[in-house]
Amino acid sequence: LRTILIGPPGAGKGTQAPHIRDEFCVCHLATGDMLREQVVKQTKLGVEAKKIMDAGGLVSDDIMVNMIKDQLENNKACKNGFVLDGFPRTVPQAEKLDAMLDARHEKLDSVVQLEIADQLLISRITGRLIHPASGRTYHREFHPPKKPMTDDVTGEPLIQRSDDNVDTLTKRLSTFHKQTSPVVQYYQKAGLWQRIDAAQAPNAVWENLRKVFVKKQ
Ligand code: AP5
Ligand code: ZN
Repeated sequence: LRTILIGPPGAGKGTQAPHIRDEFCVCHLATGDMLREQVVKQTKLGVEAKKIMDAGGLVSDDIMVNMIKDQLENNKACKNGFVLDGFPRTVPQAEKLDAMLDARHEKLDSVVQLEIADQLLISRITGRLIHPASGRTYHREFHPPKKPMTDDVTGEPLIQRSDDNVDTLTKRLSTFHKQTSPVVQYYQKAGLWQRIDAAQAPNAVWENLRKVFVKKQ
């Protein structure tokens, strides 16, 4: 299975992608998680990326395309396919992904848009907690950890992302509508686009997503 989840901040990409990864034995490539790893390691890229992420902007296409290329070539977990979360975010990224897949004689199966109204995203984003090492996601109200501020699996502390505040969210949403909405049209033209109502409860979203992929397989 080779698929892409597209949706605004808080739509549920990082919540749903692990289900797809586990059910279809593919890799989950989340470009935001990869960037946050660089931030934690305080690499040159991490320091630059943090400024951009906190301002709600986008890191350059070349850097992001190379990150994905490296994973597709070297990550053994991707040999059965992949679910992309947070990439492509611009039309040039989508074009470069197409060229990369062409060169590998591979094709996308589907591109799924997680549709949800902007106003529903505020509470999802401001209540989110993450386990930085694994990218596991919780929510103070909608998906609380068993022990407050503690990862269920490792017992390590949870944190709030520095871009998860109302100001940065407003900028991230505007970036999404300007730069990523054209990516939806790009895949509509290619006949790959599907949509899912992402405002439902997480389990209902997963049930509907599963149907999309099972039909395709
Ligand atoms: P990224 O990490 O990709 O952030 P994003 O796209 O803004 O998406 P989020 O991670 O905020 O949302 P999500 O859809 O994963 O939601 P989640 O499942 O966690 O990117 C961060 C930054 O990195 C970008 O702003 C950019 O600067 C840079 N970047 C990354 N990729 C790039 C690229 N390709 N090019 C250039 N720059 C790039 O859910 C959110 C919360 O809601 C959670 O708490 C969850 O528990 C809860 N929740 C989920 N589903 C439900 C539900 N159905 N009902 C109730 N609560 C729910
Ligand atoms: Zn995410």
